[in-house]
Amino acid sequence: MAFQNLEIETRDGIAIVTINREKALNALNHQTMAELREFFGKTALGLENISGIVLTGAGEKSFVAGADIKEFLSLDSSSAGEMSKRGQDIFFLIENFPKPVIAAVNGFALGGGCELAMACHMRIAGETAKFGQPEVNLGIIPGYGGTQRLIQLIGKGKAIELMMTGDMIGAEEAYRLGLVNHVVPQGEEVAKAVEILQKIAAKAPVAITKVIESVNAFFDKSVEGYQFEADAFGQAAGTGDFKEGAAAFIERRKAAFKGE
Ligand code: COA
Repeated sequence: MAFQNLEIETRDGIAIVTINREKALNALNHQTMAELREFFGKTALGLENISGIVLTGAGEKSFVAGADIKEFLSLDSSSAGEMSKRGQDIFFLIENFPKPVIAAVNGFALGGGCELAMACHMRIAGETAKFGQPEVNLGIIPGYGGTQRLIQLIGKGKAIELMMTGDMIGAEEAYRLGLVNHVVPQGEEVAKAVEILQKIAAKAPVAITKVIESVNAFFDKSVEGYQFEADAFGQAAGTGDFKEGAAAFIERRKAAFKGE
């Protein structure tokens, strides 16, 4: 698939993916969602030389201002339900991606934009970023996993308030609530995300994947989290990287991990 709305650049072993529909504040139309599915479900899995992904929005104003409201007019109850399920599945690809994915939130992260940021493993906010789930203003609710993930990140009380009032919150409030990991000066979001990904890139890749899988297991009602952790621990300990990491500690040198 040729990407029209995603710009993909690889820098020092990290893929920087920019949602590029600046005139529509990077709203997620069907095409952009299809491209996200293609990228996270296929393209990125084949990028063996990258250690992580930064997801951001084009321009200085918006990360993603939600699903594309202009495409809503043709929706009925049944097609909207299907659209929600399809969107959830695409965001699961991001949440379950085997390498770290960080959202660099450079402006509005509203509705589907906030949901997209929440599907990433971490969020870096520029100091003028704004977060919110304003769907009730349109007579709908968050449909790309927002009702589930906002609770996971900030707890039920504040999550239900934000979803019922549709209020927007700024970066500092988002940080205070635990919605974002770091707040940085406007324009430095991608650089901060890259800095964190480079730190992670020095660790054992299989261990990083097992962290992602085990943390996600906590929220999967069909999985027993502690058992999952024990199995993942065993799998990580079966790698050559574990032997290398332990040997490097004892020999007081830097580990040279191979990802196997
Ligand atoms: N879907 C489609 N287009 C959108 C959009 C969305 N979610 N959000 C913004 N746009 C478009 C606007 O229609 C406008 O395009 P136009 O110039 O062709 O009319 C352009 O982006 C700029 O938006 P505008 O509203 O003029 O900017 P603003 O600075 O006045 O306001 C927002 C910014 C984000 C507050 C406002 O655009 C907004 O409320 N957007 C919708 C947010 C939302 O409800 N998201 C959840 C959807 S479920």
